Amino acid sequence: MNHKTLVISLLISAVMLSISGTAMSDDDYERGGFLNRWFGDSKPGVAPVENPYYLEECGSCHFAYQPGLLPARSWSKLMAGLDDHFGENAELPAEDAKILEDYLVGNSADKSNHKRSKKIMKRMPSTDTPLRITETRYFIKKHDELSRNMVQGNPQVESISRCDSCHKQAAKGSFEEDEIEIPGFGRWEDD
Ligand code: HEC
Ligand code: HEC
Repeated sequence: MNHKTLVISLLISAVMLSISGTAMSDDDYERGGFLNRWFGDSKPGVAPVENPYYLEECGSCHFAYQPGLLPARSWSKLMAGLDDHFGENAELPAEDAKILEDYLVGNSADKSNHKRSKKIMKRMPSTDTPLRITETRYFIKKHDELSRNMVQGNPQVESISRCDSCHKQAAKGSFEEDEIEIPGFGRWEDD
């Protein structure tokens, strides 16, 4: 190889590398991607809830959704409307609400280094302030293979918002495929 062809082939491989880098598929990213694995810049799942007060107050009616499932702007909006919280009154004394909001905002998806939080943010337009995790683009795409029979028509599930009825390790912040079991339908097999 003479000097000129060496330079050209180096240039070509540089271009190929950058293309494969940016065109990394969802599944590559899912497995951590080689850059993520090498440099360990992303933790798995979402950060688990370690705040007992949050677990008590926000886990009494439903699964205590991890702060890393929504951006800070969503949590602030949600906390400002607790008197009409999806049809329920979940109002709290202002000082208590403030403690919880600080916790949610401080650990929100847009500040997280966890893989699922980053992916939720990556798909969310910056102008969106969803109040539901189940209304985010990432969530909708991940759950588009579920049938009505498995969710709304399933007496053991009823609502897609009940994360822990299918994700057996949800409380640990883990939503891996091999931990999914749909009540009455068994383990989730995807091919
Ligand atoms: C009085 C009961 C009650 C309390 C207390 C409560 N919630 Fe809820 N929450 C609900 C109901 C009902 C829904 C709607 C569930 C559904 O659609 O299946 C909901 C839904 C949500 C959702 C949307 C879930 C989705 O579909 O993506 C979030 C986020 C949420 N709650 C956060 C909180 C936080 C944070 C707190 C604590 C400040 C809290 N909730 C306290 C009753 C409650
Ligand atoms: C009725 C059962 C069910 C409920 C309820 C449910 N999920 Fe899922 N979830 C699934 C299935 C099935 C998949 C798809 C797994 C696949 O094929 O990649 C999935 C995928 C996911 C993924 C991506 C996992 C991966 O490996 O790609 C995340 C994150 C997730 N769910 C979070 C949640 C959260 C948060 C909630 C509650 C707000 C929730 N899910 C409620 C069944 C459920």
